[in-house]
Amino acid sequence: MFSINDFIPSFYSNTLESGQFQWTAPSNIALVKYWGKKENQIPANPSVSFTLNNCMTNTKVAFTKIQKQDNFSFDLLFEGKPKEEFKPKIQKFLERIEVYLPFLKEYHFTIDTENTFPHSSGIASSASGMAALAMNLMSLEKALRPEMTEDYFYQKASFLARLGSGSACRSVKGQVVVWGHQANILGSTDLYGVEYPYTIHDNFNHFQDTILLVDKGEKQVSSTLGHDLMHNHPYAEQRFAQAHDNLDKLRAIFENGNLDEFIKVVESEALTLHAMMMTSMPYFILMKPNTLQIINAIWKYRSETQIPVCFTLDAGANVHVLYPNSVKDKVLQFIQDELVGYCQNAQYICDQIGIGAMQL
Ligand code: PMV
Repeated sequence: MFSINDFIPSFYSNTLESGQFQWTAPSNIALVKYWGKKENQIPANPSVSFTLNNCMTNTKVAFTKIQKQDNFSFDLLFEGKPKEEFKPKIQKFLERIEVYLPFLKEYHFTIDTENTFPHSSGIASSASGMAALAMNLMSLEKALRPEMTEDYFYQKASFLARLGSGSACRSVKGQVVVWGHQANILGSTDLYGVEYPYTIHDNFNHFQDTILLVDKGEKQVSSTLGHDLMHNHPYAEQRFAQAHDNLDKLRAIFENGNLDEFIKVVESEALTLHAMMMTSMPYFILMKPNTLQIINAIWKYRSETQIPVCFTLDAGANVHVLYPNSVKDKVLQFIQDELVGYCQNAQYICDQIGIGAMQL
């Protein structure tokens, strides 16, 4: 396991004048949710997610050596066009990671980024976006220090991504990633995401996630504000303890493939996340009427057919419909027949469990 100091480099054996890297990184969907953090993006509780396969950010980073400056020098393009609004977030990210990548002010960067999912679909691109950027910066660091091990490369990439957006640290690897120290998961740490180290039953092979776009509007509550509301939250301590317990439960479920138990943990986690928001001060309701319509329709369908399909939610109104690959055709038919009507412009995205970031 690496410590923070391992990520502060002391020397580089190579120099590099210019070049370009390109990585694609996926979004991820948490089963046990991260909600609440301490200083420096340290999570208040451990979380676990499925890495996705189709909702990706592709990011190209071109770099040229310059005289070391007082400020970061970078251009930011989104879909090939300059995007000033995105720059402050990148600026903040670079400030946070500079101590771990001390060469950042010695280059001018052109960061060119695009998502495979529709812009303003209400799907947060921060996880995939920060992961893709972190991968590119690690490629540059590896070029400066080729003796770096693969393990170090990926774990530091996740460590850096975490400093951009907490959940981004779970987007570097697949298929199931744990972030945050949990007593019974060997190697789990608050500093970066690790591949889930134990047996995963075949029931979870190619597990499906169909994302129903209920509300594509701007996020009502930023995740920064949301996490903050867990400070002095009346139920925070119980909630954090529950996340540890749910990870224990999932460990048994991943091993024995019991989908009924899986559904209980996953749906309860989603509703707990929203319950935390409803019981904070100020309080929020991030579900929309159609979110509830969908949840009720899933419950009805599941009880009528015994097909193990369930939902989870992020900090918004969209619904992730989760189900095993073996029932894919039936569930897609159900979505077409009964759920599409609740989506904005009938939009949904078919995704499934994936393997993590890839160099292009
Ligand atoms: O990574 P952030 O700070 O945007 O937080 C995301 C938190 C949730 O998506 C709501 C839950 C999670 O674990 O992904």
